[in-house]
Amino acid sequence: MNFKLSCNLQSAKGCVLFLFLVFLSAGVFSQGPMAGATASIVPVPARMKLKPGVFTIDPQTRLVVNGDNPEARRIATFFAAQLQMAGGPDLALAVKASTDQKLPSVVFSLIEENTGSPSGSYELKVEPHQIQIHAHGGAGLFYGVQSLLQLFPPEICKQAPAGSVKSWTIPCTEIKDHPRFPYRGMHLDVSRHFFPVEFVKRYIDLLAMYKMNTFHWHLTDDNGWRIEIKKYPKLTQVAAWRVDHENLPWNQRSAQQPGEPATYGGFYTRDEIREVVKYAADRYVMIIPEIEMPAHSVEVLAAYPQFSCTGGPFTVPPGSYWPNRDILCAGNDSVFTFLEDVLSEVMELFPSPYIHIGGDEADKTNWKKCPKCQERIKSEGLKDEKELQSYFIKRIEKFIVSKGKKMIGWDEILEGGLAPEATVMSWRGVEGGIAAARQGHDAIMTPGSHCYFDYYQADPQFEPKAIGGLTTLKKVYGFEPVPNELSTEEARHILGAQGNVWTEFIPTPSHAEYMALPRMIALAEVVWSPAKLRNWDHFRQRMSNQFKRLDYMGVNYSKGSFRAEVTTGFDKKTNALLVTIGSEQLNVPIHYTTNGDDVTIASPLYTSPFEIKKNGIIRAGLFVDGKLKEKTVEMPLLFHLAIGKPLNYLTQYSYRYPASGRGALNDGLRGSANHRDGLWQGYLGNDLEIIIDLGKEIPINSVQMNFIQNQHNWIFLPVFVEYSLSSDGKKYHSFNEVPNTISTKEEQVFIQPFNFQFMANTKARFVKVHAKNLGKCPSWHEGSGEDCWMFMDEIVVF
Ligand code: ACM
Ligand code: ZN
Repeated sequence: MNFKLSCNLQSAKGCVLFLFLVFLSAGVFSQGPMAGATASIVPVPARMKLKPGVFTIDPQTRLVVNGDNPEARRIATFFAAQLQMAGGPDLALAVKASTDQKLPSVVFSLIEENTGSPSGSYELKVEPHQIQIHAHGGAGLFYGVQSLLQLFPPEICKQAPAGSVKSWTIPCTEIKDHPRFPYRGMHLDVSRHFFPVEFVKRYIDLLAMYKMNTFHWHLTDDNGWRIEIKKYPKLTQVAAWRVDHENLPWNQRSAQQPGEPATYGGFYTRDEIREVVKYAADRYVMIIPEIEMPAHSVEVLAAYPQFSCTGGPFTVPPGSYWPNRDILCAGNDSVFTFLEDVLSEVMELFPSPYIHIGGDEADKTNWKKCPKCQERIKSEGLKDEKELQSYFIKRIEKFIVSKGKKMIGWDEILEGGLAPEATVMSWRGVEGGIAAARQGHDAIMTPGSHCYFDYYQADPQFEPKAIGGLTTLKKVYGFEPVPNELSTEEARHILGAQGNVWTEFIPTPSHAEYMALPRMIALAEVVWSPAKLRNWDHFRQRMSNQFKRLDYMGVNYSKGSFRAEVTTGFDKKTNALLVTIGSEQLNVPIHYTTNGDDVTIASPLYTSPFEIKKNGIIRAGLFVDGKLKEKTVEMPLLFHLAIGKPLNYLTQYSYRYPASGRGALNDGLRGSANHRDGLWQGYLGNDLEIIIDLGKEIPINSVQMNFIQNQHNWIFLPVFVEYSLSSDGKKYHSFNEVPNTISTKEEQVFIQPFNFQFMANTKARFVKVHAKNLGKCPSWHEGSGEDCWMFMDEIVVF
């Protein structure tokens, strides 16, 4: 194996030692020629030992069910089906009862005794003449099969046989495995875009393959109701359909006009729901249905306007507008009758012990004006609309609990007082989960920062439009669901974590796969594997094998982690920019150029950071099997006087857009037209004030700064930028302000320089920059009165 590329900062020897330690810590002991290929199980098992020798599966192999347990037989049949689908007729092996003792065999043992081990635990032993999978519950046996399949070559994931395979060889292994968390979830929003049953099943297949056990089905939202309810036929006749404005950007779609037909949408019939529930249960995936209330429910009001505060009329919106003030009325008892009727039918269809009731983002404007809502506040002795929301949710919880089920809601259900037995899904950071756990409530972690898979996963310049953010594979892998703040006792309430796929910007199944994968696989390891085994290098090494599997399955996973990333540092000794090129991949060759030329396999191979002392353009790309895997990265480099010099921040940038942090404004890197490319630093509502210390008094010619305007994302140019110079850091000489001359209403996204040229022979040691933030969004703007953003990428001093 060639570790050289990934370990360019260390000696090769140190690197080998490091990886050896990684393997040791994962309980993996490599022996024999198969060793390298066998360490690729994801999520990494709690304990795994590779042994000498191999097991060969061929037409003589017997699949044997111990005791002929029907559940074990079903799981063995699942394994047989995969083997035959990928291997062809020679590997069509019959499943037999345990009376058939002949070797070689794969033995499936399900011994349903309570051992106290977590649900999903299993043991898998591969010996030269026998494979044994042993578990105390069906889930464990199923996960044993998943691990066994991952010991096969990636061709086992083929969806149709390529010729007939005569045999497959797998390494002898001993695995004892169990999950870290009981809740290992993925969510899918089928309201913003509707996805057919076939895709939902495929999504469940992918969850199951990586030992995820919960599918959170976001069935209702403003843009479409997706589940047949017998008692309220208009939910599927009206609320499931909207006008087709799919050709327009999501945030710029006008509402349905009179006479305009609502043709875009769909819903799942009761039979389809039952079919999917059974499909998931066969793969040990629990489905939690979500019925949104009291907000994210305007589609309900389009069908039944009497459940609103205002009476309507309403239409199903084809996109988003914000804030959405039309929510269910909390003062009208018929709303609760409606919701209880709906939930009763939902509970009849879904065996899950949990029902998700949404509860997020309820704008209370209409409740403040509604006589019925105000009367409810009075009659119930509530303090305000927040307590009215709490009343709403508690009333629904009481109903759900009376039916023997448990309620989950987004973390807004904490506001105004948590319902007595509620489980909180923490999405606005992990704080909601912490608060819930401290109150003795269960919580599921799904913070936007790490678990929103509708965010970009690589440089937005090259990615399909996403909702925002930047959540790379590595960032997901680094997520820790149990915050340090919690005591051991409180931490027991963290049931696990979940990845969310909201689909405003995801119109097709293939795009949903792209956003979910590979990030879901990183999250699967976070929630399954022991925390002490989490190791990024070990993970990405195993991922190279997983990508091959996904290729055979035809999964449209994102190749974002195959994109080269350029970062810079500063070498104080040589006064040069130190350029590092990396990626999320391990051991994939990177070729690059520094003069703007196209990158080919003949371009220099990147081996270690190199110095640059002049302006240039770095291009770089990853080559797999000699071919460029993804578009090359192109990064202009500016070599100027402020590079690497100490910056004194007098004001603070937002934690939401830090770029690379305190060195971002003098790293030689300029941002692209996309403010989410990780190179722009954002200030929310406040000014930027920074002093650069050039080390000694030197001649200065100009200071140049670029700002970006993107008014649809609430980002405006500064009102002015003021540059001041000083020799001693005490007395500053201020020059004329560079004013903004461009309208805030400019529709286009553009980058605007705010440059200042000093007179000849100007000298200074300290350069002070003050960029005046517009502060609040203008009155004509959709964010009127709210803090607005100011974004800059580099303070260039020549
Ligand atoms: C959410 O993202 N509104 C839960
Ligand atoms: Zn009302």
